[in-house]
Amino acid sequence: MSLKKAYEQFFSMGTSVSWSNMMSEEAKAELKKHYSSITAENGMKPMFFLDEKENLANPEKYHECPALHFESPRIYLDFAKESGIPLRGHVLVWHSQTPMWFFKEKYSKEEDAPWASREIMLTRMENYIKGVLEFVQTEYPGVVYAWDVVNEAVEERGQQGWRQWSGWYQSIGEDFLIHAYRFARKYAAPGVKLFYNDYNTFDTFKKDFIVENILKPLIAEGLVDGMGMQSHLVLNDLDLDGYKQALYKYGGLGLEIQVTELDIHNNDPSEDGLNKLAEAYSELFHILLDAKKNGKANVTNVTIWGMKDDESWLTDFRKETSYSLLFGNNYEPKAAYQAVIDAVK
Ligand code: XIL
Repeated sequence: MSLKKAYEQFFSMGTSVSWSNMMSEEAKAELKKHYSSITAENGMKPMFFLDEKENLANPEKYHECPALHFESPRIYLDFAKESGIPLRGHVLVWHSQTPMWFFKEKYSKEEDAPWASREIMLTRMENYIKGVLEFVQTEYPGVVYAWDVVNEAVEERGQQGWRQWSGWYQSIGEDFLIHAYRFARKYAAPGVKLFYNDYNTFDTFKKDFIVENILKPLIAEGLVDGMGMQSHLVLNDLDLDGYKQALYKYGGLGLEIQVTELDIHNNDPSEDGLNKLAEAYSELFHILLDAKKNGKANVTNVTIWGMKDDESWLTDFRKETSYSLLFGNNYEPKAAYQAVIDAVK
């Protein structure tokens, strides 16, 4: 049974893909078998579109309109096009994996270089979004069906409000967010869905902040189509009731919901550990399916953040080996995979 077939009538099933997946025939075969959506794990982030060499060599020339290059993104777009698997664009405006020089006057790499002015950064933002969307839409029409326009604009648990140390916030101020969506809407082809994406979106403070300060203002201007719940979960610290409440709250706004980066960190590869992981996936997929069936949340995609355990970013991020995904190191289906298939039966 394939994941995409099992979930066909409810939502698309996706995975993130790395550069090395794109170099592997085995990975590509798995992608075609199981998935109806892909997201570039890294290769379509600003650090890969921005041409550092060119911008730094000619800062005057590219002062307002940054030079872009397309070698890295093409690898994913070519595969999406030839395989017919639609691609989620990730990500246009983010504090991370965007080079610091991009936010600075004269694209300077000096540590204490001043931020570029608000006016310049708004112009750079518009030209960046325009350049990326026009490239994708001209050379790969119809391939990218959704974009994470802004990612992670809200601070961690316990702290308050906007992520103030972001280069975007520092150079423009908190309305960087609404401007990003105005530009994205202006240049996105009709039908391309615009998402806000964040992690720990079930955290009470974060959830309320996102709804009041991000989604409602965007909805008022018709600038957002969906909410992306990244869903980097932790097996020993799961609050699926809170998750469900958040899902219903975002869903109640009438937006599409996509689970954009699902993984459940688990450091226990024993049978017991893997069964617990399977139970967690099962419960989560039941919540998502119920929400879809009872109209509480229009879930349109679930994307797993990685094709197999040994490729999960969590091992690096959590500083311990993570067995968090649906497939083992040789693409063998784990109990978690079977639990996801069984949840929809
Ligand atoms: C992660 C990738 O998985 C890693 O390979 C990379 O080193 C850092 O970024 N939130 C996001 C994703 O929106 O882009 C991040 O991906 C994980 C957290």
